[in-house]
Amino acid sequence: MAISNSDSPYTFRFSKTDNIDFLIVGGQGHKVGQSNSQKEGYNKITDFAKKYFNVGNPDYRWSAQDYKSLDLIPYIGSLTSKDEKIFVATGFNKWGMSNGSFASLLLTDLILNKESKYKKIFNPSRGEIKDNIKSFVETNLNVAKELIKGKILLDEISLDDIKNDDGGIVKFNNKRVAAYKDIAGNLYLSDSTCTHLGCELEYNNADKSFDCPCHGSRFSYDGKVIEGAAKSDLKKVI
Ligand code: FES
Repeated sequence: MAISNSDSPYTFRFSKTDNIDFLIVGGQGHKVGQSNSQKEGYNKITDFAKKYFNVGNPDYRWSAQDYKSLDLIPYIGSLTSKDEKIFVATGFNKWGMSNGSFASLLLTDLILNKESKYKKIFNPSRGEIKDNIKSFVETNLNVAKELIKGKILLDEISLDDIKNDDGGIVKFNNKRVAAYKDIAGNLYLSDSTCTHLGCELEYNNADKSFDCPCHGSRFSYDGKVIEGAAKSDLKKVI
């Protein structure tokens, strides 16, 4: 696996699946629900792959979500000091293949009550907030900004502006609504307020999902949860 040395880095590696050689290219990272055009992001990745490798259009494309801790060190260990027998491994910050393998080794030691010099470093309760107060404040200010921005009814389009097989956030009966029209023109309208903590969703024009800019929840075109933190589907409007 390799990573380009640029402001907006790309990663690339090869994979053999069902005896077919695939090139996997990643990049164009952004916060969920905070990209102006996900379609453009996919196009840039495709352009990069075509420029540097002898490949055509992609066979598959998808968005993955990466979580990172305040100090960029993963959380691996007991969930809290009170729940010592519940273990967590997260915050791999894009390095899931190596950190995931490492987590399996560390968690094995912890479950077997073996001593590990890594226990303290990766302890999920290490209390890194005081050492990373700037990052903590920035992250929470960003959530507050997105929460407020979403409540100010600004860029809504009307239902008539939505083409088939496309969607958007529209104004409907004086409310902000998540709308999607399928290829046959059937309309799906859901409440555009995230069921996690109430931020307003944004339309993802490449994956045709509704994404939350606050904590990364994602919902399908018809309002079903496809990624937490939210646990409940969006309310149907019609
Ligand atoms: S408010 Fe939407 S994910 Fe938290």
